[in-house]
Amino acid sequence: SILIVDFGSQVTQLIARRVREAGVYSEIVPFQSAGEAFARIKPAAVILSGGPASVVDENSPRIPQAILDSGLPMLGICYGQQALTEQLGGKVEKGDSGEFGEAFITVEDECTLFDGLWARGERHQVWMSHGDKVTALAPGFRVVATSPGAPYAIIANDERRIYAMQFHPEVVHTPDGAKLIANFVRHVAGLTGDWTMAEFRAAKIAEIREQVGDGRVICGLSGGVDSSVAALLIHEAIGDQLTCVFVDGGILRQGEAEQVVSLFRGHYNIPLVHVDAQDLFMDGLAGVTDPEAKRKFIGKTFIDVFEAEAKKIGGAEFLAQGTLYPDVIESVSFTGGPSVTIKSHHNVGGLPERMNMKLVEPLRELFKDEVRVLGRELGLPDVFVGRHPFPGPGLAIRIPGEVTRERCDILRKADAIYLEEIRKAGLYDAIWQAFAVLLPVRSVGVMGDGRTYDSVLALRAVTSVDGMTAQAFDFPGDFLPRVTTRIINEVKGINRVVYDYTSKPPGTIEWE
Ligand code: XMP
Repeated sequence: SILIVDFGSQVTQLIARRVREAGVYSEIVPFQSAGEAFARIKPAAVILSGGPASVVDENSPRIPQAILDSGLPMLGICYGQQALTEQLGGKVEKGDSGEFGEAFITVEDECTLFDGLWARGERHQVWMSHGDKVTALAPGFRVVATSPGAPYAIIANDERRIYAMQFHPEVVHTPDGAKLIANFVRHVAGLTGDWTMAEFRAAKIAEIREQVGDGRVICGLSGGVDSSVAALLIHEAIGDQLTCVFVDGGILRQGEAEQVVSLFRGHYNIPLVHVDAQDLFMDGLAGVTDPEAKRKFIGKTFIDVFEAEAKKIGGAEFLAQGTLYPDVIESVSFTGGPSVTIKSHHNVGGLPERMNMKLVEPLRELFKDEVRVLGRELGLPDVFVGRHPFPGPGLAIRIPGEVTRERCDILRKADAIYLEEIRKAGLYDAIWQAFAVLLPVRSVGVMGDGRTYDSVLALRAVTSVDGMTAQAFDFPGDFLPRVTTRIINEVKGINRVVYDYTSKPPGTIEWE
């Protein structure tokens, strides 16, 4: 396996993902416990991630000496490159200005990382994000690629099999990055690359059995792909020790409750409790306008309802959730990790401390498209596997300002029309996620001979590979006008529709 030392980059899990794509198992460990993990895991190679610190600063993170002395192949990325350089006798300095975003590097020399990929003299796009830079090489290193902002863009020590780069090969904005990582895994580290999702499934099933023993588990189903896949995996592991609980807080899309209930009860015969908690949610959301307060309330209320159900079911000590990696990373500072909180996703950061059930989260390392592969592996029907992601806090975070039953109903109708038109146009699978947002803004309109003063609806559709970055989807010319007309004609309370063209970053996919 490969050990990935996490220095706190927002995208460390993407490194693990690229290693999985290259067909090799990896484990990520925070730099603080890397020495201990290295001794325990006995990896075949080590990758050092990027991170927000500066090696120039006193007390900044370092690579454990045992790893440096191991003679194993190593790949250093960004901060990892700087730490390697500094610790092996080179020099790193603070730059006057950083380099962020797209950059072009020139290949200066041959290198194992470039096998079958790049040749001397070629220019290639990469994604840079750094303030500091290497200014003198450690002994034994040579430069194999340069960029105007980073003369040491890629460096190599062939004898020690240590390679390092200033840019981020793990992100999609470095188009050949996955191949550079695959070359490191296969050609430098010599690993065979035959690890598959079927093995992930088997390994997770064993892990779940080990964690749960003969205990009882309840799993919160949200109606989305993630919790469905988590439930199926857990059911496969422990059968009827699992009971699913589906909480309807009045913040689901149209028809969703019926679909979930019929799939789980009817198709899979998995025990399912359907709780109607609409009053509880709507009463609690009254007057709440702050996005984090909404998320916290919903997270807490879900858990309250689960706890009450768990008591009724009796003896359940485990709570299962379909938490994915992007949920973890964006909430991670809640759990003491090194990166910054963007939103407290309700299935991670909103968990109240007092919750006294243990968590089972078998999808924590995966990205959405990997969960879909796993879902297919588990036999989940295609219509379900292909569903757009839907956030745990549901429609509540698509109604900026106060959430009321009436506004949920308006949004549900508009959202259903939008999605129906997307399906009809054959665009559903080309889009990562499409939804409507009901704005707390009213605008003046004219319908018939009368004046209207109603709400504005924003439509959003994005393409994305993993939910970490996203681009607005460009609809064919007549699509948006058609949907706009339908929504305004059919949904009372909306008299204006706008389209959101913001990418992520700087936006997020959801509005709250
Ligand atoms: P953002 O808005 O952070 O969303 O760009 C990234 C992806 O995550 C989904 N999302 C959530 N999923 N619980 C979830 O299970 C949440 O609290 C949550 N918030 C956002 C979002 O729909 C998008 O697919």
